[in-house]
Amino acid sequence: MTVLIDGADIDFGTDELPDLHGTLRALRSRGPYARTTYRGMPAVVLLTNELVAAGFKDDETFPAAAMYNLTTLPVMGKTMQCMAGQEHRTNRALVSGAFRRSLMATYTAELLEPIAHRLVDDFAGSGTADLTAEFTRQFPLQVTSAMLGLPMADWPKFAGWAHDLFFYPTDPEAALRASKAFTEYLKPFVAEKRSNPADDLVSKLVTAEIDGVRLTDEEIYVFTRLLFPAGVDTTYPSLGNLLWALLTHPEQLDHLRANPQDIRWAVQEAMRWEPGPAIVPRIAPTDLTWRGIEMSAGTWVLLAIAAANRDPQVYPDPNRFDIGRHAVASVSFGNGPHVCLGQFLALAQLETAVRVLLDRLPGLRLVEPESVRIAGLLGPELRGPSQLRVAFDPEVSA
Ligand code: HEM
Repeated sequence: MTVLIDGADIDFGTDELPDLHGTLRALRSRGPYARTTYRGMPAVVLLTNELVAAGFKDDETFPAAAMYNLTTLPVMGKTMQCMAGQEHRTNRALVSGAFRRSLMATYTAELLEPIAHRLVDDFAGSGTADLTAEFTRQFPLQVTSAMLGLPMADWPKFAGWAHDLFFYPTDPEAALRASKAFTEYLKPFVAEKRSNPADDLVSKLVTAEIDGVRLTDEEIYVFTRLLFPAGVDTTYPSLGNLLWALLTHPEQLDHLRANPQDIRWAVQEAMRWEPGPAIVPRIAPTDLTWRGIEMSAGTWVLLAIAAANRDPQVYPDPNRFDIGRHAVASVSFGNGPHVCLGQFLALAQLETAVRVLLDRLPGLRLVEPESVRIAGLLGPELRGPSQLRVAFDPEVSA
């Protein structure tokens, strides 16, 4: 049943919107976009796969920089998200070597699997766990810290700074303090890698060179900080949603136990059905008309990934979670020049997590499935489960 709702009554920045998909569906039943509100300001939400993909791609009309300069620059510094054109291409090329698809098999064997196993070691013997607290929140944080070459004893410090950076909109002072402390920590660390480069990501950043251009220390601090909100806070809710999708579709989980080669399709389907990032905002820099949609300067343009991924024109029966669909969500990692730099690493983490959890936790099942809620972490833009209490056959130590 489609409920009649008015986009203008919804604030996509601050409302809880527990039925986000129902809300987006109801709006799309009346047209490919809707006028609405974002953090108290006028907004247009794009609702079809075609419009969302085009909105991401058109960095000239809706520059990512215009939005990130407003929302993240004060605390994160000038990240590649705040850049456009040649400057963005050069900065991105200098850091992208470490995120190539061809490196993922090595990362999986040397980094992701050992970290996933170590996390599972802590609870495999107990027969129960909250997978959000004990696994999903830890895994990408530890992967990122380990990739950077940060000493393991300091990882909890990074977890604290990453948390404060994420909550910048609600506590800007704590976020600015975290950003400063983070940089102070990195200064001697980066200096040491400049003198003695090793095999970690920071060493790759200090030695990267394209046509004589190298990254400055400041650019390395900025990129390293960016990896926490961009690479960790997106991956952990996406992983939580993936596990929730599988645990609430036990027949599909059974299929994966017998056919682990299909785990990659389960990951792709979860990235379509319920990716962590549900909405990515842009802002119209001037008065403009785009694809027939009139906007005045300062209008927020909401790229609704969650609507695009359930567009029935592209995905038949879109609300059904079906790992046999073998479809790839075309906008879950964005599109165009700012498409996710870490998408292959993200997919490798999600696949590794499912493989290791299924291997190590036979009989894995949700306890109190009705108590799980997929909720906004900071408004509805980024969503994940609040908890995932599970039971399984406890591992007997040798
Ligand atoms: C499932 C996990 C992830 C999802 C769903 C995701 C999604 C996205 C999306 C939608 C964008 C585009 C943002 C925009 O256009 O405004 C983006 C950009 C980005 N992502 Fe990811 N991401 C994930 C994991 C990662 C990881 C693991 C890393 C790095 C290690 C990463 C690094 C980045 C960076 C650096 C950008 C900015 C690229 C640019 O501006 O050129 N992401 N991501």
